[in-house]
Amino acid sequence: MKNLSTTSVIFEKKPEDKTLDTTLRPKIWEEYAGQEKVKKNLKIILQAAKQRKETPEHLLFYGNTGLGKTTLSHLVAREMGVNIRVTAGPVIEKAGDLAAILTNLEEGDVLFIDEFHRIKKVLEEYLYSAMEDFKLNIIIGSGPMARTMELKLPRFTLIGATTKIALLSSPLRNRFGATFQLDFYSQEDLEKIIQRSAQILKIDIEPEAVKTIAARSRFTPRVANRLLKRARDFAQIEGQGIITKQIAQKALESLEIDQLGLELSDRRILETIIKKFNKGPVGLQALAAASSEEQDAILEIYEPYLMQLGFIERTPRGRIVTKAAYQYLKIKEPQQELF
Ligand SMILES: Nc1ncnc2c1ncn2[C@@H]1O[C@H](COP(=O)(O)OP(=O)(O)OP(=O)(O)O)[C@@H](O)[C@H]1O
Ligand SMILES: [Mg+2]
Repeated sequence: MKNLSTTSVIFEKKPEDKTLDTTLRPKIWEEYAGQEKVKKNLKIILQAAKQRKETPEHLLFYGNTGLGKTTLSHLVAREMGVNIRVTAGPVIEKAGDLAAILTNLEEGDVLFIDEFHRIKKVLEEYLYSAMEDFKLNIIIGSGPMARTMELKLPRFTLIGATTKIALLSSPLRNRFGATFQLDFYSQEDLEKIIQRSAQILKIDIEPEAVKTIAARSRFTPRVANRLLKRARDFAQIEGQGIITKQIAQKALESLEIDQLGLELSDRRILETIIKKFNKGPVGLQALAAASSEEQDAILEIYEPYLMQLGFIERTPRGRIVTKAAYQYLKIKEPQQELF
């Protein structure tokens, strides 16, 4: 969700949020709530590799923003007792950049490439041989004098993270030994996450308030942590420093986040489809223009959650708003035309 110019109060990235991410990032498996299936399968891969004294296969993590892909990658490195080198798709501009990163790796290292879908097409060929054979073929010089040089690389584990797996070419996808999709979190797991974060940040919070915040966290740990922090500010200024249920509710109200965690932009998107497109179907471009939201923000932030709630459905002809959304917004649904 980088480079999005969005009005979202809970997704806008500020420097303080990056620090929050780092401070609250679980450092051991036990602290990483939920995603049981992913954790189980991942641990098997890692344990098996450890037993064989090999580096684990390359791993691909995908799922919505804030669900824990970066955190999981750090856990993998920690479990293997190796360094993690962090970079991102858009940062690697040319073959030379990639060569510098790869040749600086040490045996067994994890190379974490965030926003993996933004790796440049021209670099894919280099990645193929690096991932498969741990070799890098670099062309030196140009024209008739050009020659290829083969660099041997240490064995490493590439971990790619992406919110948009569909943008990866299939040859690239196939070079990962395993692909894991991160799901939205349950209310129970979010409550655990909020409780743990409150402990770390030394925030006084009542159990009922934990529930209130969890319920409005869009099933997403990062959102839960951000809302917790906003509620703490509110408790400090408007209350006695303790987050009670009432304080939590007031804090969320002041952020214009409703009881399902919908914010203004979500409601605007729904209302735009209802009012300007007669409940849809509407294409992404038209929806973005009519609702004044960025296409990327709709795709990566609002729509996944609205779909998870069952408020929007995607059909081949575009998005439509469902009966459930009409009921929630208390808007009368237009009658179906029968003929
Ligand atoms: N399973 C989890 N248990 C506890 N906390 C979690 C979990 N997953 C994520 N978090 C919290 O949410 C924050 C965001 O997670 P993370 O940065 O790993 O998400 P991401 O999937 O990499 O997001 P993005 O796509 O935006 O890079 C973390 O700093 C951590 O505090
Ligand atoms: Mg990340």
